[in-house]
Parts: sequence; structure tokens; C-alpha cells
Amino acid sequence: MIKPPRIAPSILAADFAHLADDVGRIEDHVDLLHLDVMDGHFVPNISFGMPVIASVRATTDLKLDCHLMTLNPDFYFDDIKAAGGDLATVHIEVFPDPTAVAALARDAGLEFGIVINPPTPFEAIEPFIELADMVVVMSVHPGFGGQSFIESVLPKIERVRKFVDSSGLATDIEVDGGIDAKTIGPARDAGADVFVAGTSVFRAPDPVAAVQGLRSAIGQ
Ligand code: DX5
Ligand code: ZN
Repeated sequence: MIKPPRIAPSILAADFAHLADDVGRIEDHVDLLHLDVMDGHFVPNISFGMPVIASVRATTDLKLDCHLMTLNPDFYFDDIKAAGGDLATVHIEVFPDPTAVAALARDAGLEFGIVINPPTPFEAIEPFIELADMVVVMSVHPGFGGQSFIESVLPKIERVRKFVDSSGLATDIEVDGGIDAKTIGPARDAGADVFVAGTSVFRAPDPVAAVQGLRSAIGQ
């Protein structure tokens, strides 16, 4: 069953010199925070790591959803937990069979999620969905904020929703990339219940109004 929509701003689009202010402005209006960790190897960009996660943790009680765009993400689970992360999501493209890595995340005290890139078919994650608290369907190619939503991932979201519901699972379905007041509707209709939004929230003149705009676009 689809859950009420939750908004997860990505701090990748925030002002890193004023991160506490940017998070503080929106924290009472959002449901979780999305933290994009990039290592310059799995994706051609470097963002931030443990010190920033720990600093964010010190400023907010929001759930921290850590999207690991790194090689060897399992290497960092204990550090992410120590920094205050709650959920670690890893790419199926890095772990075609994530059974062992899911167990490692749970051993570290983290929730676990599986991320799937736009070109990767639903079948790659199908056997493993039951391992995950969250499935993240990428609606841009990972690595950079500010890209346009790729509509052709909508049928994949529908397939994840169908699988989750018909299996009686409570798995969250998150959509990540290019979410704004126009694209959130189709993503919701396809079955997503967690919406990552970086640019459309933190680069808006009024980030709180932007979050409210996302919610009202899907009737919340
Ligand atoms: C892309 C990241 C996304 C990104 C979303 O690699 O995984 O989370 O920050 O940013 P926008 O909302 O700008 O597409
Ligand atoms: Zn992300």
C-alpha cells in the first residue's frame, strides 16, 4: 500500500558554507534529509563524507538517508552509523547480489536500501527487494544535481510498486533526481512515496514554499 508522501531534500544543492542555516530553515517542513556521498570513482564527482554527515547530525533530528555513490560502500557502514546516519542505500550496479551487503548494513545498525540507475532494468533488483527497507529509483544519472527528470523510469517505479504491494511488503519507494512541482505528480502516480528534491528546494528563493509547492502538487 502506498504511504503518505514524504519529502527528502538533498543537501547537495544547499550552501555548504551555511549548511546548518539551510537545514534549519526547512527541517520542520520535511520528512527526512537525503545525503549524497560521492567518491569520484563510482560517479565522476566528489561531494562529501563522514565529517559533513556528523555535522548535519549535530544540527537536526531528521532521519538521515545516506545515498552511497561510492565503490566499496560497505567499507563505510560503521563510520556512517558513528556519524549519525540512519539509512544506507547502495547501488545494484555495485552489488548485483546485495544479500551480504544488506546484512552488513544491518550489523552496523543501519537501515538498508537498494538504488537502481536509469538504464538498469527492474529485473536486476526484483529478487532482492525483500532485503530492503527502501528501493531508490534514480530518475537522473547519478553524480550531479540539477539534471532533468528522465520520464522513461516511470514504468520501473510502477513495477516496483506492483511488486511491493503484491508481496505484502512495506518497502519505501523513493524517486531521486529532477523532482520539482511538475515531475512529482507523475512520480507519485507511478507509486513513489519518498521524493528527493535538491535543486527545486535549496535553490528556490523560498525553500519552505518550494516544499509546500511539492506537497500541493500531489494533493498533500
Ligand atoms: C544525483 C543525486 C541526487 C541529486 C538530486 O546524483 O543522487 O540526490 O542530489 O538533486 P536534484 O533534485 O537537483 O536533481
Ligand atoms: Zn541521491
